[in-house]
Amino acid sequence: MNVSDAVRQRRSIRDFRADPVPQELLADILDTARWAPSGSNIQAWRIIAVAGAERDAVVQITRKAPTSAGFGKTDDPYPIYPPELWEPLRTRRYTLAEDMYRALGIPREDKPARFQHVARNFEFFGAPVGLFFVIDRRVVHGQWAHLGMLIQTVALLLEERGLGSCMQEAWASYRAELATRFQLAPNEMIYCGMSVGFPATDKPVNQFPRSRMSLDELVEFRGF
Ligand SMILES: Cc1cc2nc3c(=O)[nH]c(=O)nc-3n(C[C@H](O)[C@H](O)[C@H](O)COP(=O)(O)O)c2cc1C
Repeated sequence: MNVSDAVRQRRSIRDFRADPVPQELLADILDTARWAPSGSNIQAWRIIAVAGAERDAVVQITRKAPTSAGFGKTDDPYPIYPPELWEPLRTRRYTLAEDMYRALGIPREDKPARFQHVARNFEFFGAPVGLFFVIDRRVVHGQWAHLGMLIQTVALLLEERGLGSCMQEAWASYRAELATRFQLAPNEMIYCGMSVGFPATDKPVNQFPRSRMSLDELVEFRGF
């Protein structure tokens, strides 16, 4: 698989087969992902990978209400979103939700079913492996951008090996609990999680058409 194919084929997988992911395979992928770039090569990051009993223990943590919620409507110093999105961002977010829930066959008014799907985040959507991306909280916004390099590199390498992934900022809701579980240093925090496993490719939630801004919207070509 070439890079262009990996970039175009990768999509967020929200339903996985139960088949385990061999540790050697994951280690090989992450060993390559180490070569993701970061400004000044400072690599202010690390990854915690969970499977088996440790994965199950993490899932159990989320059966309690979270003590931290990074989604913006709290006083979390590291919110995932601003309290209110503006256009066109708000519509893009709304469109994704509508496309996804349509694929899941969940109507807009069925709030309990929508809530249940959101809760699937905290079962890694059935994936046997979870990754957590840890950042040093002393860094500034530049290093948060660097971390994105690592995360997408991991996702593309997983794609190349026939594995699927879903990046999950939803885990920000459980930052405090996860920090305790993983005995993070005081200066460390989890930015986001990632479900990893073999995709249940036949499931509609893994098939609905996705959209992106056009090339014209994305790029302003000057001086060509
Ligand atoms: C950093 C990051 C965090 C994300 N967190 C979640 C999440 O918590 N739950 C979820 O279902 N999708 C999550 N997504 C997936 C996005 O919704 C998805 O990438 C976007 O809709 C584009 O679709 P695609 O990945 O299928 O191309 C996240 C994506 C990124 C980049």
